[in-house]
Amino acid sequence: MTRPEKWPSPTRNYSGLIGHLPRWGADSLELLEEGARLGPVFTVQLWRPVTIGHSPAWNRLVLGNTAGFRSRGSMSQLSPYLAAGIVATDAPDHRARRALLNPAFHRRMVTPQFADQFAAVVREHLPQGEFDAVAWASRMVRALLSTAFLGRNFPDRVLRSFLTPLDQGLPGPLLPRPFRIRTMDRALHRTFADPDPETLAPLFASIPGGVQEARVAIAAAYDTTAHTLAFALWELAGHPELNTARATESMVQETMRLYPAGWIGSRVAVTDTEFDGRKIPAGRMVLYSPYLTHRNPQLWDDPLTFRPDRFTGRLPAWGYLPFAAGERTCLGAALATLMLRTVISAFAGAGLQRISTAVRPRGVITLTPDGPIVLRRTTTTTTTATSTSTSTMTGTATYTAPVHVPHRPGAPMVASQPLWG
Ligand code: HEM
Repeated sequence: MTRPEKWPSPTRNYSGLIGHLPRWGADSLELLEEGARLGPVFTVQLWRPVTIGHSPAWNRLVLGNTAGFRSRGSMSQLSPYLAAGIVATDAPDHRARRALLNPAFHRRMVTPQFADQFAAVVREHLPQGEFDAVAWASRMVRALLSTAFLGRNFPDRVLRSFLTPLDQGLPGPLLPRPFRIRTMDRALHRTFADPDPETLAPLFASIPGGVQEARVAIAAAYDTTAHTLAFALWELAGHPELNTARATESMVQETMRLYPAGWIGSRVAVTDTEFDGRKIPAGRMVLYSPYLTHRNPQLWDDPLTFRPDRFTGRLPAWGYLPFAAGERTCLGAALATLMLRTVISAFAGAGLQRISTAVRPRGVITLTPDGPIVLRRTTTTTTTATSTSTSTMTGTATYTAPVHVPHRPGAPMVASQPLWG
């Protein structure tokens, strides 16, 4: 028999009037971690009641049934950057739309098409001396996305202006941006009128709604990949023994485990559903959390330690989901992985050193480093801009501030709240 819905809920600083909203705004990860210590499913009261789970069974329930849990009306729709295109398309139309997009984003297409182009862009822009990995990664990913999606002639200033709000804290990425979006759409229209065959532009030029679809994909690709890259460089600088081409793959996997850019995802229950003998009512917003799942000590040994060698073994089913899972799994997973591997492997052999003393992830739209990450790269050979790449990467390549003052002095290297289990 289904019991009435009554999941535990964090009690610290709870206010009957405004629920958990202030805590969500101040430190959503800390709120999630308190909830996770109460059990595998818990509720929080935001602007509406929200049920959150972090077990493989929960992930499977929420991600394995696109008809039962829809995206429209969920959290991603709060941002004008994501409230359109495939992200806002639900079953039954979602499957046909993905079938149009999937082939060009498959690893078998992406790797041969972009591996050399990406390597050339990265070589051209490797930092020298001290640099802020967060700002540098954002510029690098913008250049790589321009290469993959748009090609030569796309105005970088339009792309930069479009993406800049995603670099800001809340409410930046949530505010309406009609001017930037219109300008971006116009530039995309012009580009798609004569698409560069070496890019993804011909795909988007050939499908109805392609301009909007490309715009949403570029937005979904940007801060996710940039923040992952910044965290990866931080870990690389702390583990010189991993700075080899051979270790790149597991480095990237472990970075996405400990710092999953898509730290939280949301859906809305279409009908009354049951989980663990309790009812989830129709209309309820439900959240899955790669962040909590990836730090769950029942699934991962010593989960707060950065240990890429764990990826030689079997992964827990529905327990590793940096790109989500099921039919709505990230469209750009192969593209993101190629970007990350290309950049990380370009650092192989060079000296990379931490200047910042601490980095802490923060749950914004994506998982975001809480302040700059200052590193120093040293090489014996000087990198010169000899590439024939046509990409643009404007802005200074190096960061020269002498000392980084962490946003939270004394904070640990990774958020290390007491474990739950
Ligand atoms: C490390 C980088 C990335 C991470 C961690 C990431 C993560 C995710 C996650 C967790 C989702 C599922 C969201 C949900 O529905 O709950 C998603 C969806 C999506 N991602 Fe990514 N992503 C990354 C890079 C990219 C790139 C490079 C693209 C470029 C195409 C991209 C495009 C998309 C799109 C279009 C969706 C929506 C798919 C759908 O609803 O069918 N992402 N991503």
